[in-house]
Amino acid sequence: MQQKSSATGKAWSGRFSEPVAELVKRYTASVEFDQRLAEFDIQGSLAHASMLESCGIIAAADLASIRTGLAQILDEIRVGQFEWLLDLEDVHLNIEKRLTALVGEAGKRLHTARSRNDQVATDVRLWLRASIDELLVLIKGLQLALLDLAEQHADTVMPGFTHLQVAQPVTFGHHLMAYFEMLKRDTQRMRDCRTRVNRLPLGAAALAGTSFPIDRERVARELGFNGVCENSLDAVSDRDFAIEFTACAALIMTHLSRLSEDLILWMSPRIGFIDIADRFCTGSSIMPQKKNPDVPELVRGKTARVTGHLMALLTLMKSQPLAYNKDNQEDKEPLFDTVDTLTATLRIYADMMGGITVKKDAMRQAALQGYATATDLADYLVKKGLPFRDAHEAVALAVRHAEGKRCDLSELSLNELLEFSPLIADDVFAVLTLEGSLNSRNHIGGTAPAQVRAAIQRGRKFIETL
Ligand code: ARG
Repeated sequence: MQQKSSATGKAWSGRFSEPVAELVKRYTASVEFDQRLAEFDIQGSLAHASMLESCGIIAAADLASIRTGLAQILDEIRVGQFEWLLDLEDVHLNIEKRLTALVGEAGKRLHTARSRNDQVATDVRLWLRASIDELLVLIKGLQLALLDLAEQHADTVMPGFTHLQVAQPVTFGHHLMAYFEMLKRDTQRMRDCRTRVNRLPLGAAALAGTSFPIDRERVARELGFNGVCENSLDAVSDRDFAIEFTACAALIMTHLSRLSEDLILWMSPRIGFIDIADRFCTGSSIMPQKKNPDVPELVRGKTARVTGHLMALLTLMKSQPLAYNKDNQEDKEPLFDTVDTLTATLRIYADMMGGITVKKDAMRQAALQGYATATDLADYLVKKGLPFRDAHEAVALAVRHAEGKRCDLSELSLNELLEFSPLIADDVFAVLTLEGSLNSRNHIGGTAPAQVRAAIQRGRKFIETL
């Protein structure tokens, strides 16, 4: 990045008697990271300029020059030929200065009835709106991958865990659909957040509005906003939309971190429920036998960083008096990194879920251990008239007995079972099977394969509405 060091080059240096110190210049400049907003800055400037012209604030010839100049600047940026100058602080002043160099006077009129305060808030909102739209597509891609895998495993039995102890049989499809539900809420949250991102700050100017006869609604319409920010002080100063977005992102990462933890555990040879395709894993430089689930581990790790960004943005906001303060320049890096991290994570995740090998036998074997159908036996006794608490006690004793014999409940004879309750009959064995247990949970939200298929159907319908 080339630097210029004259105080006179500054857009605001008129009242200063000495140039800004070199270190301070570096400290306060944002162009190294906010140049990422350039295309949106130009989009905002075009809408602002055409409004100025239609309201009679600038001449048609000025508007034409501004359009030509900004089109050329856009080209220069796209082909990487735009010269960003640290001396010009930020993306806004860099573009404005170049515009003036290209088209003269008209370039200097562009900033009429505008401040960088409402300009930057507009740019960030435009950028974030576009990012949200891309993220929504990526979430959908991951949801489709989950639906496809769940469909293949609507009947695949595995142990469901609580406290990481075998609890009751569930289907693998049901387990996957739990994550589908989380992502469904994440989608809804993100769309809801988008409606609040999508408001126009321009017109607020520095903080109080402007004395020019502007038309904010027109600018809002042209930029696709669903309305204007209704208080100028609020428009330039609050970043709650960015905080809200980052909270949504942190929740998505948290959900994916939990799924990652599941994948890591399932892939451990000690559990051995799944294998993750080699292209998502790495080996060890010392232990030749190793195949490590690096991607899920990194998702878990990167969740920390997005959660950190949420904390950073909340803390950034908490003590700022109204209205704009330079603190707000610090909103960009956490926000940009949140979008980048989430984008990369979602991209890789959809592909990774498609590349999972499911080891059905290992899942079934694990479900057969740990007395996963004990609750089914208790429910069976209740259906024969025993109060649940008594049934619970009877089955606990039966489990203890089976444990002593190192066998499953279903391996006890009818005579042995009768010692724990006289209500037990031959029909008990159907109840003690894994399939019997699964199929009996046949209501909305239950793990019965028929219900899992119905949930997948509903999931596909939901996806179609997006
Ligand atoms: N680079 C600044 C930011 O990101 C732009 C707004 C600066 N406004 C000001 N009055 N210094 O917030």
